Amino acid sequence: MELSLQNITKTYGKHLALDRFSLRMTPGIYALLGPNGAGKSTLLHILTDNLKASGGTVVYTDDSGVSEPVASMGARFREKLGFMPQAPSMYRNFSAERFLWYVASLKGMRRAQAARQIPEVLHTVDLSDAAKWRIGTFSGGMKQRLSLAQAILGDPEILILDEPTAWLDPNQRIAVRNYLSQIALNKILLIATHIVADVEHIAKEVIVMDKGRIVTKGSPMALAQSVCGRVWQASACAEDVEAVQARHRVTAISPQPSDPSRFTLRILSEEKPTSDARMVAPTLEDYYLDTFGEQAGFQSSIYMEEI
Ligand SMILES: Nc1ncnc2c1ncn2[C@@H]1O[C@H](COP(=O)(O)OP(=O)(O)OP(=O)(O)O)[C@@H](O)[C@H]1O
Ligand SMILES: [Mg+2]
Repeated sequence: MELSLQNITKTYGKHLALDRFSLRMTPGIYALLGPNGAGKSTLLHILTDNLKASGGTVVYTDDSGVSEPVASMGARFREKLGFMPQAPSMYRNFSAERFLWYVASLKGMRRAQAARQIPEVLHTVDLSDAAKWRIGTFSGGMKQRLSLAQAILGDPEILILDEPTAWLDPNQRIAVRNYLSQIALNKILLIATHIVADVEHIAKEVIVMDKGRIVTKGSPMALAQSVCGRVWQASACAEDVEAVQARHRVTAISPQPSDPSRFTLRILSEEKPTSDARMVAPTLEDYYLDTFGEQAGFQSSIYMEEI
């Protein structure tokens, strides 16, 4: 199976949201990373046939090698697809279970298949106890998990997820990440996210995009390695933190448990930033911050732990 995006272009009026975007995907997890407005959701809506591209084609190739443009497949493509949109719309008065029955009918699932799978997917997203609750009473995280449940219902071979963990607490994020990693063997999964840590260990390929174009793509490790030699860890007292920030990109500041007046800084720098700094192994997040730090209005994050 292969899904291929070929020169996808999308304009909204005069605004070019996607600029000849091309990508080939085979089973495995692909992560789409990029700042706000990069074009991620636009791309996913085109890929799921919810939005018409201004140019280019999406082509699906099945296991026997037969290729067909998605636009001409219609329902035959949609039944292979699970989509979790960034802003899901769900009927407030439906219960979670009734909503999933509704989605099952839209997906053309047989009754017996839906009756078996609905409790399964509710269990997967940890909503079994809330199956009969009205969606209007759900928290943001519960709605998001229900949206994931409707995407995986029917066991589709292509899963497109737009910011799937944005509202989840850390434990739920880990659960979702592990689940996605387990089901990815025979499926194409495309995940758009800002949360780099969620895809760092599970994606086979990371596609970094900005302004509608691919900036780079590669394995998480290859991208992380590209900032090797530029990631440092240093220790500084509270008064010195600002001076280091004025000269270097400080990507994290955390108080030291043994001495709360001192901080551990993570720094991106071509040269050794302070005399005591030591080089550390880079992560995908370091690469991301190095690429988008300036335009994200670079701000270091202070993690105020219990001290
Ligand atoms: N319906 C629309 N009409 C006009 N412009 C739009 C529309 N949808 C998106 N855009 C513009 O297209 C660009 C890409 O938007 P898109 O939502 O695809 O970005 P994104 O990468 O998903 O961002 P985010 O990380 O905030 O979700 C943005 O500049 C946005 O303002
Ligand atoms: Mg988006």
